[in-house]
Amino acid sequence: MDKIIIRGGKPLAGRLPISGAKNAALTLMPAAILTEEPLTLRNLPRLADIDTFSHLLNQHGVSLTLEGSRPEEFGRVMTLKAGRITSTVAPYDIVRKMRASVLVLGPLLARCGEATVSLPGGCAIGTRPIDLHLKGLEHLGARIELTEGYVKAAAPDGLKGAVVRFPFVSVGATENLLMAATLAHGETVLENAAREPEIVDLALCLQAMGADIEGIGTERLIIQGKTRLHGATYAVMPDRIEAGSYACAAAITGGELELVGARVDTLGSVIEAFDEAGVAITTTRDGMKVARKGGSLKGISVTTAPYPGFPTDMQAQFMAMLTLADGASVLTETIFENRYMHVPELARMGADIQVRGRSAFVRGVEYLTGAPVMATDLRASMSLVIAGLAARGETTVSRIYHLDRGYERLEEKLQAVGADIERAGGE
Ligand code: EPZ
Repeated sequence: MDKIIIRGGKPLAGRLPISGAKNAALTLMPAAILTEEPLTLRNLPRLADIDTFSHLLNQHGVSLTLEGSRPEEFGRVMTLKAGRITSTVAPYDIVRKMRASVLVLGPLLARCGEATVSLPGGCAIGTRPIDLHLKGLEHLGARIELTEGYVKAAAPDGLKGAVVRFPFVSVGATENLLMAATLAHGETVLENAAREPEIVDLALCLQAMGADIEGIGTERLIIQGKTRLHGATYAVMPDRIEAGSYACAAAITGGELELVGARVDTLGSVIEAFDEAGVAITTTRDGMKVARKGGSLKGISVTTAPYPGFPTDMQAQFMAMLTLADGASVLTETIFENRYMHVPELARMGADIQVRGRSAFVRGVEYLTGAPVMATDLRASMSLVIAGLAARGETTVSRIYHLDRGYERLEEKLQAVGADIERAGGE
């Protein structure tokens, strides 16, 4: 299995390109099922999850073509054409590898009147049920039954618009219901909908396909169902979590990066958190610049929350940065039940972190020391890279297939801004 070797202590400096957003791409791709016309997505990142989703859509009968992009160009152009759906089954062996696969449920149901999708099962960070997805689709008239680990959904007479009020915010449930509602009969209102920028990206793409959606960016989405949608061309938004992750890397190494393509307006309360921690984020013509405000990082308290709150997907990376801050920090994770698996690995590098219930108490230390560490999930693995970039000596991160799911060409991007980092094959 591949691993990444980092020799830390070098301040990062220069321009680093930000790729298209993984979590936008993974909901824009299944939207192609909603029309038999071609949907062309631009700025698609080169990630393992995108390849897995392509494989899933392929076996539904969706044809996908990738326009050759020059190697130095980040972002591919993919055209998806769901002329005819040949299978409405999303099999366990694909869904278990990537839980975002459940996002074919709403589109298949809306387009074909049926869908058989494997339950995703839990993952490292939590049990991650999909009960909100299923209850919402039942509100739209779908008949749902669970048999042998699969969700069997049917709406032979089509879906009917309804008011769906989510008991708490769910990104995936909002995405599934939003896509399904675009082809339902009548009006659907989604209340307490997620407002993440990736949801806005999906809604804007659906609008470009002819969907009638109001309230985009708010927690109340109103959709007038259509009989059909048409093809479109849409550029995936830049990845706000990738940008935030590299901003932590610049801050912890005491460097200065310009994150090309990043959009400050999608980072929500991460900007304030960086500012409080002593990191200046400034908007530039090409993206955003990140540097310490002068002197050391400061300990802060953050609590994760749905957008525009502090994103759970930034918690591990911020924790890594704060291990070298002056003073104490408290990070409280409210979204997932087990998202502190990076803590014991950071502790092996000399970090001083105590987890009590939902909160992690971080005391800043003078330095971290490189060590062999193991990635356990996507964002935890990025936190280990961030720590390794600042640590004294050599850090080896193993099981980096986790990283490859969400960070395009990570070592290439970091080498280009001065990091001593390489990928090595390994046992
Ligand atoms: C999306 O996951 C993201 N994944 C996650 O990013 C992100 O952490 C999460 O939203 C929160 O922002 C993609 O977009 C592909 P949720 P999702 O439904 O949709 C519970 C990454 O690192 N819940 O908002 O699965 C759930 O267990 C990944 O890029 C239910 O109980 O997240 C969780 O505790 C990790 N029932 C909370 O709600 C449901 O039906 C939020 O989940 C749905 C969710």
